[in-house]
Amino acid sequence: MTADAGLTAEQLAFFRENGYLVIRDYLSPEEVQSLLDETYSLLDNFPLESHPLTRFTTGDGDGSDTQHVGDEYFLSSGDKVHFFFEPDAVVADKENGGAPKLLRPKHLAINKIGHALHMKSPPFERVTISRRNAAIARSLGFRDPRCLQSMVICKQPGIGGAVPPHRDSEFLYTSPPSAVGFWIALQDATPGNASLGMWPGSHRGGHIRRRFVRVDGGKAGTTFVENDGPTLAKDVEGTTGPDTSNMEPEILSVKAGDLVLIHGNVLHKSDKNTSDKSRYAYTFHVIEGADGWEYDKRNWLQPPEGGFSRLNAAL
Ligand code: FE2
Repeated sequence: MTADAGLTAEQLAFFRENGYLVIRDYLSPEEVQSLLDETYSLLDNFPLESHPLTRFTTGDGDGSDTQHVGDEYFLSSGDKVHFFFEPDAVVADKENGGAPKLLRPKHLAINKIGHALHMKSPPFERVTISRRNAAIARSLGFRDPRCLQSMVICKQPGIGGAVPPHRDSEFLYTSPPSAVGFWIALQDATPGNASLGMWPGSHRGGHIRRRFVRVDGGKAGTTFVENDGPTLAKDVEGTTGPDTSNMEPEILSVKAGDLVLIHGNVLHKSDKNTSDKSRYAYTFHVIEGADGWEYDKRNWLQPPEGGFSRLNAAL
């Protein structure tokens, strides 16, 4: 695939059929290394003293917590680089009035870094706002693709938290749905270290039944509500898909540098990382910014001044 070629007909057909697509060796080893170096540097250098010790929890029956993260540090991270801790890495320190205390060095305690690496970190911006990503988005039918919610997910050895089954458009809802995830392995991700689990074809008829929204404009955190808007992206309108209730997910095996495209309606998850190997991945999302698609004002992540980053700026 050349830089501006976009997807081949075969790749596009696979994506349409399955709701995801793996593109091997999308980033060069040098590009992957530049992102790992940047990640290590970010993890080493963020100040713990001024950090609120916000833990990342999905609040979706994963056993870690009952409430999804929704504090100011989280809600204001859409145009910043913030650091979210693994729930299992932080305890209440009884000897210190219940203040949060880290159980391991901070660089081994972070669940994810987000959500504007594509705006605030030059190495991540380079691999995000790029001609080849714009070409892929064009292949997928986007007219004015906008980037948002970029993050490094660390999946720390032993404690890297599970991400329960979900569809990405639940979190980045446009009317009608349009989100597509770009997920790039920065380290090998295999069934042994909590790789992505996909339900192939589940984007067809994969209705967005619930949405992740701010409560009272964010003053009262976040919650899931029933979706009363359109539930399917235009490319899967009127489709029906497999019954996922008794279907096992397909656990992907990908190498550092591989890209996985994830349809916003496809059901996917990842397990807790119980192995002794970390599983760093960089992911960002694209939504349609053209007329005819409306970004929802209740979404947890709201656009920065000037709007979400135009992927076509790279063209
Ligand atoms: Fe996802």
